[in-house]
Amino acid sequence: MTEAAAAANSRAVRGRVLTFLRPPRSTGDAQSYRFIQDGIVLVKDGRIALVGPADEIATRLPASIAVDRHPDALIMPGFIDVHIHYPQTQVIASYGAQLLEWLEKYTFVEEQKFADPGHAARNAEFFLDELARNGTTTACAYCSAHPSSAEALFTAAHKRNIGMIAGAAIMNRNGPPGLLEPAREAIAASRDLIRRWHGTGRQRYAVTPRFAITSTDEQLAEAGALLKEFPTVLMQTHLDENKNEIATVKRLFPNEPSYTAVYARFGLLGPRSLLGHCIHLGDDEVALLRDTQSVAVFCPTSNLFIGSGLFNHKRLMEAGVRIALATDVGGGTSYSMLRTAAEAYKVMQLQGQNLPALAAFDLMTRANAAALGLDGEIGTIAPGAYADLVVLDARATPAMAHRMEVTRDLEEELFVLMTMGDDRAVRQTYIAGRPVL
Ligand code: GUN
Ligand code: ZN
Repeated sequence: MTEAAAAANSRAVRGRVLTFLRPPRSTGDAQSYRFIQDGIVLVKDGRIALVGPADEIATRLPASIAVDRHPDALIMPGFIDVHIHYPQTQVIASYGAQLLEWLEKYTFVEEQKFADPGHAARNAEFFLDELARNGTTTACAYCSAHPSSAEALFTAAHKRNIGMIAGAAIMNRNGPPGLLEPAREAIAASRDLIRRWHGTGRQRYAVTPRFAITSTDEQLAEAGALLKEFPTVLMQTHLDENKNEIATVKRLFPNEPSYTAVYARFGLLGPRSLLGHCIHLGDDEVALLRDTQSVAVFCPTSNLFIGSGLFNHKRLMEAGVRIALATDVGGGTSYSMLRTAAEAYKVMQLQGQNLPALAAFDLMTRANAAALGLDGEIGTIAPGAYADLVVLDARATPAMAHRMEVTRDLEEELFVLMTMGDDRAVRQTYIAGRPVL
């Protein structure tokens, strides 16, 4: 390849580079991250080829390479949202209901519209635009119960070369007829989607039983069997979000000792299983999550907005349960992972706990990638990883710039970003090396 041809598929991104190496143990844990005050990320064919100090790398770049300069900004791995509903972009900000009523009154109504492939395609494009505006470069998304809705999202993400994980919601009871499919047919449709999309480009599949209330024993068992059949496919569902939800599960599965035990019985727990909310867990349930290496997904803006309760981060952490962070739009109220981290901080404060900024940014990037089994591929700035990047400006608003006048170090800057930042703080987002804003 000529130097000009190599440069055409290459780009250098220059600024203050920050990436996490392991979970921070406390505030000020400088061993947990790599920070380069004037760094260059060299991108080739969508992946990171090299990262290091500009004074070492600049002289080795081809003369014709494009260099994006982001002075003063932080270049970080793009954010990862581990739990979000793409058919809920017009459910977000629905007034005055807790979970079960909220689902019936607003959510199921909007999701039925996704039977129309045109509606699904339009919403998929909007959804991906909005993620990019917020610096989110990978999401694990629920689709509606219509397989065509998953098809629309995968098609749009594949075209943009975005690494998306998604699945059509499986439901066969306790919902409107427009969203229910007989157990076998829903599973067959999921199998079909897995064969079409799991591993196609950057796309991956998550088997998606909505929650225990909307599936019969038979359908949950079939979902478990599907996971066994495809050992690299993920699983996403909801767990222990709301007290009335839990009482309903108790009624529907009277022989199971707990909500978590229902999922365990049908083979739905394991290292590839993402369980949204996990608020009202008994000790036996915490032990089940830990022993199966399942992931508890913390969705703070949703838990506050729907009034579900407070996620006990410290308890799960100390028990050794894997934890991820997510928006849960449209129960959640913001697409921004920065806003999500701010609310996570407050949820923890209400319980006498703390969330250091280092831990929050590690969660949004490296730890969320690990929760998806994608560590090394995304959520990090290191050679070989996809060049999915976010460029953050901690002085994006007058109030932030004013506050920044007195910040003393990187960790304070990160705390300003997560407490006051949102889409306005996102200066650029790169998807596989391509600037998309
Ligand atoms: N439980 C079952 N479905 C949903 C949903 O769409 N959102 C939330 N927050 N919880 C759920
Ligand atoms: Zn959800």
